[in-house]
Amino acid sequence: MRALTWHGKHDVRVDTVDDPGIVNPRDCIIKVTSTAICGSDLHLYDGYIPTMKAGDILGHEFMGEVVEVGAKSTLKKGQRVVVPFTIACGSCYHCGKHQYSACDNGLPADNQDIAQELYGQPMAGLFGYSHMTGGYAGGQAEYVRVPFSDVGPIVIPDGIEDDKVLFLSDILPTGWMAAENADIEPGDTVAVWGCGPVGLFAVQSAFLMGAERVIAIDHFPRRLELAKKFGAETLNFEQTDIYDALMLMTGGIGPDAVIDSVGLESHGLYVDNVVDQIKASTFLGTDRPHANRQAIIACRKGGRVSMPAVYGGFVDKWPLGAFMEKGLTLKTGQTHVQHYLPGLLQAIIDGKIDTTFLISHRMDLEEAPLGYQKFHDEQNDYTKIVLKPGLNG
Ligand SMILES: NC(=O)c1ccc[n+]([C@@H]2O[C@H](COP(=O)([O-])OP(=O)(O)OC[C@H]3O[C@@H](n4cnc5c(N)ncnc54)[C@H](O)[C@@H]3O)[C@@H](O)[C@H]2O)c1
Ligand SMILES: [Zn+2]
Ligand SMILES: [Zn+2]
Repeated sequence: MRALTWHGKHDVRVDTVDDPGIVNPRDCIIKVTSTAICGSDLHLYDGYIPTMKAGDILGHEFMGEVVEVGAKSTLKKGQRVVVPFTIACGSCYHCGKHQYSACDNGLPADNQDIAQELYGQPMAGLFGYSHMTGGYAGGQAEYVRVPFSDVGPIVIPDGIEDDKVLFLSDILPTGWMAAENADIEPGDTVAVWGCGPVGLFAVQSAFLMGAERVIAIDHFPRRLELAKKFGAETLNFEQTDIYDALMLMTGGIGPDAVIDSVGLESHGLYVDNVVDQIKASTFLGTDRPHANRQAIIACRKGGRVSMPAVYGGFVDKWPLGAFMEKGLTLKTGQTHVQHYLPGLLQAIIDGKIDTTFLISHRMDLEEAPLGYQKFHDEQNDYTKIVLKPGLNG
């Protein structure tokens, strides 16, 4: 089959590789009909995530048709499914609490050591996202093996096109959980850093959860425009001092909740960001959390910090004093996708949530390397790329 493979920093290629097969009785194989490139994939593309190997198949946002099932899969051949990017067993202590991204059994035993060492416990597996998260082949491919297929995939009713439901795999539940983690109360003002797919779904979700005002921050005009369409007020961090503007807009109080949907590759010419960049490029540091620091400083006293954004390692200059003195709370984590799927699918069917606004480009899987380059270099125009195997025939 054809698949998008990683070969190093800014080097991804479409190669011919072996077809996947059933390994465990709970597996299924799906034929991918749509798959997307995610902001998280850019962290791999930029070489920030350790334990990648040349030839790894990327992609964790995908859906398709079930073509093969193991003896204990509950799926049937021919069903259309969307697959969560988190691989979880459904029956461990954490899955029992619906904390699927904390699953104890998502990682094969010999892939658990790094997370155990780095984070204290192993995490759930993730598709196409390094050997630290299981070394699972991803879904930017013609076919993919889905472990625990009796737990993860959600069956899509006939008549709903891929573009409407594909983002159930990751960014829609991630934006939703980001807003939920902000503990929004009616009348709240919520500030969202980053108007990528996650930030834009967080904006939409925050309004649905009762926020009175949402202030969206980025520097790409087209992304800010999309946030505005959902009713957000917008700030461009290249043109405005964000802290001053937020204070002015909230009568000197600060936003009730702040959402960091930027992550470990914060942009901007700020002193702390430049220092982080130097440290990251000389292997003295890992993450560049400028937006996160700014969000904490701007948040009102007693406010809430929600952090869907991905961080991988260790940070310094993190304003722990402000965090404590202001009495803030923080909620974060890889998304517990499986928990949110039924409710969000229903919201899409009922027309309460729109997902298609996000798609700026559709490409054939064969064009995926160009897609990565564009999504990386032209973020203003490329808000989301959906790859479809066989699109160009
Ligand atoms: N928790 C999860 O399970 C989960 C799931 C999916 C994605 N993520 C993470 O969420 C983050 C966002 O994902 P995405 O797909 O929207 O990525 P993206 O790269 O498309 O968007 C990030 C946006 O942040 C903006 N930005 C950069 N620096 C900024 C700053 N200083 N202030 C304000 N905005 C700034 C960028 O211009 C960009 O538009 C990433 O870190 C991604 O890895 C987490
Ligand atoms: Zn993703
Ligand atoms: Zn589990």
